[in-house]
This record gives sequence, structure tokens and C-alpha cells, in this order.
Amino acid sequence: MNILSPSILSADFKHLEQDIREAVEAGAEYVHIDVMDGVFVPTITFGMPVVSSIRSTTDKAFDVHLMVQNPEKVIDRFVECGADIITIHAEACTHLDSTLAHIRERGAKAGLALCPSTPLCVLDYLWDKLDMVLLMTVNPGFGGQKYIPAITEKIAALRKIIDEKGLDIDIEVDGGINDGTIRTVLEAGANVLVAGSAVFGSDIAGNVKRYMEIMREYER
Ligand code: DX5
Ligand code: ZN
Repeated sequence: MNILSPSILSADFKHLEQDIREAVEAGAEYVHIDVMDGVFVPTITFGMPVVSSIRSTTDKAFDVHLMVQNPEKVIDRFVECGADIITIHAEACTHLDSTLAHIRERGAKAGLALCPSTPLCVLDYLWDKLDMVLLMTVNPGFGGQKYIPAITEKIAALRKIIDEKGLDIDIEVDGGINDGTIRTVLEAGANVLVAGSAVFGSDIAGNVKRYMEIMREYER
């Protein structure tokens, strides 16, 4: 199933609740939450208190993207704050096998994110631990960057592996998804689409509805 996951990083924090409501009422299925620690990436965004405080705005799944060094230290607390999906970065965590297993043991879905230059072979020996793979289509750290065209091939290669192995693993793409790139990533085989500035930058409900309609055309 194709799913839209608007990233609240580009919402207006003065009225975050209202922006989230507008996106989910227009049909968005996930809320993408970018947690940045100022170490793994240069920016610091927000953490557990903000996630707890917005939890009551919607029943939709909280898709928490941890751009955090040593994410194993904070997984339990994000689950307690209401995360439904927790995605950690392959580049930020030494013990991927046990950390991904731990996310599932705590009752959340486990995702693994790969920066643009990280090869797909890091996924080998982890397939049975994964609910989702997040392919970064920009270098993590900021919203509003340009899609990196070389990643289209990586999305297609991952789609091929997942289909050949008959696995039930979502492919999420994150960064620079907008009117100009949405069809490219869907054609390549992504099925969970993060969009920050392209959703929250202007008419939120209108953007969500337009992207969801395009996503329906590509339903597999
Ligand atoms: C980037 C974040 C993204 C970001 C996407 O490091 O992981 O989720 O919010 O923003 P846009 O869609 O504006 O590229
Ligand atoms: Zn993200």
C-alpha cells in the first residue's frame, strides 16, 4: 500500500497541532517526526516532550525518524511517548541486529535508514528484523533540499530484492519529494513517501490530497 508521511519538520511550530490535524484530516496516514540530535546531523530539532505532547492530536501512526547517534539509548522512551514506527540510521548504530530486534520487542515497527552513500548490502543478514527501509534521497539534516537523482536506481534495486525475496518490507523515501519527483520514486518502487516542505510549505490539505491521488495511480 502507498502511504504518505508528511514531515512535521516543515510545519509551523507556532501552531503544530493545527498543521498536523490539517494533514491527517486531508488523508495522510502517517505523521513523520524527524528527531535530530546535533551530533549525527548538525541540526537539533525536538525530542520526547514534543512527541508526547502531540500524541493526542491524532490516532495516525507516528513514524519517528531518529537522526541520532547511538539510538539504542532512546528507543524505549520514544515508544513510551507514542512512536509506532521507529527508524534508526545504519550509520549511527553499531549493533543493528539487536537494536532492530529491540524496537520490535517494545511493540513498535522497526525501520532502518540509509544515507545516500550507504550501500544496500548493509541490509544483508537483517531482512527478518525489518518492517521498513528508509532510503534517504537527500543527506539528512535539513528540510527543503533537492532530491539526489542517483538514488532512483537504489530504490529500484531495493524494490527488486524485496520482491524477489517475497518480503513484506516497506520502502520509505525521504527528502526532496515534491511534484517534480513523486512519480519518479513511485515508479522506482517506493511505497512510503515522506514530504515536508512540499506538504507544509503551502496549502497543507490541498497538497496532501494531490499527492495521495498520485499515489493511488501507482498502487501495486
Ligand atoms: C531530512 C529529514 C526529512 C525532511 C524532508 O533530514 O529526514 O524528513 O523533513 O523535508 P523535505 O520533504 O522538505 O525535503
Ligand atoms: Zn525524515
